[in-house]
Amino acid sequence: MLNLQSQRFLDRLFFKYNKIMAVSYKDLGLVNTREMFKRAINGGYAIPAFNFNNMEQLQAIIKASSELKSPVILQVSKGARNYANQTLLRYMAQGAVEYAKELGCARPEIVLHLDHGDSFEICKSCVDFGFSSVMIDGSALPYEENIALTKKVVDYAHQFDVSVEGELGVLAGVEDDVVAEVSHYTKPEEVIDFATRTGVDSLAISIGTSHGAYKFKPEQCTRDPKTGKLVPPPLAFDVLDAVMDKLPGFPIVLHGSSSVPQEYVDMINENGGKLPDAVGIPEEQLRKASKSAVCKINIDSDSRLAFTAAVRKVFADKPGEFDPRKFCGPARDEMEKMYKHKIVDVLASDNKLA
Ligand code: G3H
Ligand code: 13P
Ligand code: ZN
Repeated sequence: MLNLQSQRFLDRLFFKYNKIMAVSYKDLGLVNTREMFKRAINGGYAIPAFNFNNMEQLQAIIKASSELKSPVILQVSKGARNYANQTLLRYMAQGAVEYAKELGCARPEIVLHLDHGDSFEICKSCVDFGFSSVMIDGSALPYEENIALTKKVVDYAHQFDVSVEGELGVLAGVEDDVVAEVSHYTKPEEVIDFATRTGVDSLAISIGTSHGAYKFKPEQCTRDPKTGKLVPPPLAFDVLDAVMDKLPGFPIVLHGSSSVPQEYVDMINENGGKLPDAVGIPEEQLRKASKSAVCKINIDSDSRLAFTAAVRKVFADKPGEFDPRKFCGPARDEMEKMYKHKIVDVLASDNKLA
């Protein structure tokens, strides 16, 4: 059996032979999540974790976070990694650090994070490719298997000072290839054992958020009598409180936290789209969560909605337009506006750079 150091040496040779260079995130100017999470918990705010797949999303995220002096987590899902190419992603993240400096952040705090890693191999590959943080999502596995897999990732990642997020409890919705019909709240009685035995740096929990733009079925919601719009059930803050009682001061993560802004849903539907009854998490509840040990909040769908709304509007207003800059540009501006709103009004992470 090879120990981890010998394995790492062989991996380096493999990378070299294949003309791929393993790299440390520190050489790319990135940081891990540890210090920023500590400060966020003590300061009563949360770090935005925005997913990206393309240049316009990355530009908008960096512009918003740099101008507002917010630390930021750039999240890459397995699907995004396949879409954008992992080598290109590494250089895009490095470019993001330089761009943030150009925008006036002398010392930007940018994390490159794998979202919903589903195997040891993908987490290891991301560590070797310059990610500063990885999530190993064993939440769909039996408890003991989740512990074993998460611990294996932690043991590898911590050698390189890469932080690791684990997950307990199941969110409804789509997580890459995993589709869960119903959510299962995290069991507070499991969290001490899980955190201790795995050594994870942060824990994603399930308290009623879910992935995508359809977080709740209409029958799970009530209707606002004035507007007729769907009102989702409240998050299970009692479960969050019980988790925080068991693990005081431990970094907690919320996935599935897009609010699905009605203005974007309307803009999409008014311009040829079809998103009936899309519903998200009310921002007041996310604001409340940000003041607790919840120190990372994941937002992806809202960026997709902002992008699509802006693009559909350009196409509807100017059917002759065919220069991608003329519709990707407005999409980028709309995403930047949305990210800034989240940073200032929901997560309160502005002006929090070290
Ligand atoms: O958690 C799911 C994220 O929104 C990523 O979605 O797997 O379609 O890139 P994706
Ligand atoms: P949303 O689908 O609510 O944006 O959630 C994103 C997420 O949790 C990424 O891991
Ligand atoms: Zn997620």
